[in-house]
Order: sequence, then structure tokens, then C-alpha cells
Amino acid sequence: MTMPLRSILAVCMLFLSSTISADKFDADWHTYSNYQDIVSTHIHLDLAVDFKNKQLKGSITHDLKRLKKGIDRLILDTRDLDIHKVEISNGKSWKETTFELARRDDVKGSKLSIKLPMNATEVKVYYNSRPEASGLQWLSPIQTAGKKRPFMFSQSQAIHARSWMPIQDTPAMRVSYTATVSSDPTLRPIMSAENDPKWNKNGIYKFSMPQPIPTYLIAIAAGNIHYKSMSKQTAVYAEPELLESAAKEFEDTQAMIDSAEKLYGKYRWTDYDLLILPPSFPFGGMENPRLSFITPTVIAGDKSLVSLIAHELAHSWSGNLVTNATWRDLWLNEGFTSYVENRIMEEVFGERRAVMEQALAAQGLDEELVELPKGDTILHVVIEGRDPDDAFSGVPYTKGQLFLMYLEQKFGRDRFDAFLKKYFNDHAFQSIDTKNFLVYLDNNLLNKYPGIVSKEKVLSWVKEPMLPVDAPKPKSDAFTLVEKSKKAWLASDINASQIPTKKWTVHEWLYFINNLPKTITHVQLIALDNEFSLTQSTNNEIAHAWLLLNIKQGNPMVNERLESYMVSIGRRKLIVPLYKALLEKGSNYKFVKAVYMKARPGYHPLAQGSVDALFEKAK
Ligand code: BES
Ligand code: ZN
Repeated sequence: MTMPLRSILAVCMLFLSSTISADKFDADWHTYSNYQDIVSTHIHLDLAVDFKNKQLKGSITHDLKRLKKGIDRLILDTRDLDIHKVEISNGKSWKETTFELARRDDVKGSKLSIKLPMNATEVKVYYNSRPEASGLQWLSPIQTAGKKRPFMFSQSQAIHARSWMPIQDTPAMRVSYTATVSSDPTLRPIMSAENDPKWNKNGIYKFSMPQPIPTYLIAIAAGNIHYKSMSKQTAVYAEPELLESAAKEFEDTQAMIDSAEKLYGKYRWTDYDLLILPPSFPFGGMENPRLSFITPTVIAGDKSLVSLIAHELAHSWSGNLVTNATWRDLWLNEGFTSYVENRIMEEVFGERRAVMEQALAAQGLDEELVELPKGDTILHVVIEGRDPDDAFSGVPYTKGQLFLMYLEQKFGRDRFDAFLKKYFNDHAFQSIDTKNFLVYLDNNLLNKYPGIVSKEKVLSWVKEPMLPVDAPKPKSDAFTLVEKSKKAWLASDINASQIPTKKWTVHEWLYFINNLPKTITHVQLIALDNEFSLTQSTNNEIAHAWLLLNIKQGNPMVNERLESYMVSIGRRKLIVPLYKALLEKGSNYKFVKAVYMKARPGYHPLAQGSVDALFEKAK
């Protein structure tokens, strides 16, 4: 039987794509490690959680695989670690070896060079982290929900894992890991790994992550942490004060997994649990595998903010399964995840809500784009020489999401869904950079359906600043209605009590508040507040939007609430824009400073850093 031309072509394409995508990645600027010469394939942690001294203390063992001949050194990343001793093994016995710890670089930390005989197959480093470790936070009891027991947690992304483990800290490579962790038995440790949910009171806990993951996904927390199962694959871990409300709020997590599997293939990490952190967690969420870390600020009581769970879950495909090779490629993690998140939300909560969330995100991006340095509006952003945290913005998220929505609209859902599913499968447990993604996109979408989207168009999305003129502009019918009522109220055609807010969801409120004009008067703000008690809103996103508006309009009415908000929340996205507006507005500096001084001790070092920089700039 002769082979049809189509199949011959397909085979050629396959060959072409595998040869092209075998291209080497650009080197990761943010690591000192010699991961292109020798890699650790598995690590074992043996750590004690020492709350008294705010230290993790113990050892890490690396199983080594040589990629080149004649390598006599293993170079690891560290930051602010005390290194006690390094041993090597040839698989039979251990002996001490020499090492050198270089001077600390502000961005990359201190390079640790370990002398390696040719027959060494394992390296073991004895060390402790310091209280100021950038990737750990040690909370006093008062900073927790229960106020009685201390709590600690890690935040390793982007380059903070090195502040609590000497490792090759690059998303270009992967390790499996095991860990033995000892802790005060009433301050249970958990990790981003398989672990027995049954409370094990002998104070020693074992963890195992058999799938290879990038180092930024290794995570640990310890505290008065309790467990509640939600469904066959999902559970919450939280302080007892938050356990029930979290389990209720996030009860749809299983439905989210089921939807995502239908779209993008099997969930590959067995179980999916949520760890609810104390309010000082600087992020909304962090996609640590099997165990996403989640801010308690999204427990709103009405599931209005659960897109965050969809987001962290989506990372189980985009990010954790297929990983950005360097931090320049963050949009491959976050843009894809924002897109997948929204698809999950559409499946579970319907199109109306999904479109509102798209529209809010797109509007947020538009506002951010005019403020950012031009270079930082590029998807494939240049971050060499900078801490990835300093280049953080909505661009990789929402511009990335809009790019994928653009492709979806051009090629049609069926083709684009098939493309994405195949992309996740073809790169499962691998890293990929922008250059190789573009080759893959060419081979599997652009050239497969020629004449729809040009290569130049794709390059303009990925390499040019701002948004292409034909970028999707999500349009929500629900918001069109809100817009109408808003206009009528502003024109005094109706008064506040006549705005039809009865059926408004949190999203409609956010749209309404975010789109009030700069000309709005204090009298009008007060009228709204009298009618809807927005200042006292217990929804943290609504409160944020309302406080921001009042700061920008110089309305001191909200000051008291502002103080309690800033003191009780440490999530960067919610507090940093408020400080920024306060300082830019030239609001009562003494008041702002006093609020910050009161709130600062409760913030994560990352949040402290962001706000400190704002005060520095305002001087
Ligand atoms: N992985 C990110 C958090 C992150 C990004 C940490 C870059 C360090 C460097 C996480 O998945 C995330 O995007 N969180 C968002 C959630 C949101 C977009 C739904 C957050 O924390 O706000
Ligand atoms: Zn994310």
C-alpha cells in the first residue's frame, strides 16, 4: 500500500519538529550552577524545623548525573546559608570534600563550588538556613489565624529556593525528591509531595515527590495545620480556625480537575490539596505540586474569588508539567495558566462569569501597560541582571492570555484545544523556552493550517511592546448593563438606591467601582457608601477597589478601614497598589508612614521589599 501524501508530509514534519525543537535553551542567567555539565536528578532533604532559632537545619543529598566528561566541580546556588560540611560518595562510602562559598551577589546569592572526584555519584551538604532567608517566613503566633502557635512557610519561586537549600536553582532542570522532616509534633510540617494526612505525632514526617519537578516547586510549611478531605482527589490543610470555611469555599475543586482533564488530559499528580496560609502570604496562590499554597483573602463566603484555585490548579499542566526554561519565559507559565484558568471557570461556572473575568483582567492590563517601562510590556522580557521579582507584572499573565485567546479565535476552539493538549503531552515533565515554543507553534499550528496567522504576527505578540492593535477585547454583556446604570446615576437620572445592584455579583461591583470617573466627587462617594456600605465590604477585592478609588480621589473617609485592611492583609497584589496611590497622591505622609510602620512587621519580606521601594521612591 502506498503511503498517502498527507502521512508522508506528517512524518517529515514530525522529523523536522523533533530536530528543530532539540535546540538548546538559552542559558539561565539566574543560576550560578553548572547544570549544563552535571545535574542532580534526585535530592533527599533531612531537615529539622527549628522555630526557636527560625532555621531549617540538616542536610541535602544530591544524586548526580554527568552530562559531560571531565567535570571536577559541582556548582550550587545558595543565598544566606551557613554551610557546615560537604561529603561525597562513590555509592559505597562517604568522605569529606572541600568547598568554596563565594561572595554574595545581591541578585543571585553565593555560588557554592564543591570539589568532585571523578567517581563521585552523590554529594551531601550539611547546612542551615538563616532567619532572614528570602524564601522562608517565620510567623509569630500573633501573625496567624489562631494567634496561639507559630507558623512557617516557604515561597521558592522565582529564585528563593536557594535561600533554604543548596541546589541547582534553575527551572531548566528537574529533580524528584524525598524528605525526612522533624518538627515539634504539634507544629506539623507538610510539603509539596506525597504525605500521609493522618497526624503522625512522633514528630518525624516523611515526604516523597516521585515525579521530576523544577526546584522552585519544592515547598514546605509547618504550623498548627489540620486536614479536611473534600472529595476523592482534593482536601484542605489549614489552621483549625479556617478549615471549615475553606472546605466550603473550595468544594468545587474536584469539578475543576474534572473539567481540566477533559480539556487537556490527565491530571498527573494523583491528589490535589490546598494549604490555606496565614494572611501574610505575599501571593494569591502558589502552585506547589499536589499542594497549592493559597491566601485566606479569597475565602469570601460566596465562591466569588475561586478563579484563584482554577489558576493554581491550571499550573498542574502549564508550569508544573511543562515548565518555563528561564524566568524570561515566565509568560509560558503564567499566560498559559491564565488562559487555562479561564477555560476551567467557563466549564464550571459558565460563560457569563468567565467573560467578566476576562474583561476585568484585560482592563487591568490596559491600565498597567501605560505605567510600565516599555521593555517590561514585552512577553519575552529581558530580565538579565535583575531579580525576576522586580520585573513582575500582569504582562506575562494577561497579555499571554490574550495571545492564546487570539490564536483560539483565529484557529477555532477545536483546533486550538487539540494543539494545547498535544503541547502539554509532548512536553510533559520538560522545560521549554520561548524560542523552542515558537518553533513548536509553527510546526503544530501555523503551518498545519496555513494562511490563518502569520509568523510575523506571532512575533509581534511575543517580541514587541504593548498590545497588537487587533488583540482580543473581551466584551461582557453584564458589564454593558452596569455601564448603563452607572451613566444614569452619574447623570443624576437615578439615585444610588435605584441602581439595580440586587443581582450583581462581585465582578459587576468591581467593574462598577473600577470605572467610576476621575471627576467623581466626595459627595457622590459618600452617597454610594451610605447606600452600599462599600467601605465595610468583607470581600477583599471589592474593598481593595473601593479603597483605591477613595485614595485616588483624596477622600479621607476610608482612612480607618484602610488601616485595618493594610494591617490584616499581606497579599502584595492587594496592598502594594494602595501604598503606591497613597504616596503618589501626596496624601498625608505621616498617616501613610504610620500605617506602614504598624503593618510592616506582619508582611512577608517580598511584600516589605516592594513597599519599602515605594517609600524610597517617594522621598
Ligand atoms: N506562580 C504564581 C506566583 C508567582 C509568580 C510567584 C512569579 C513568584 C514569581 C502564582 O501561580 C500566581 O500567579 N498567583 C497569582 C494568582 C492569580 C493570578 C490568580 C497571585 O498570587 O496573585
Ligand atoms: Zn500563576
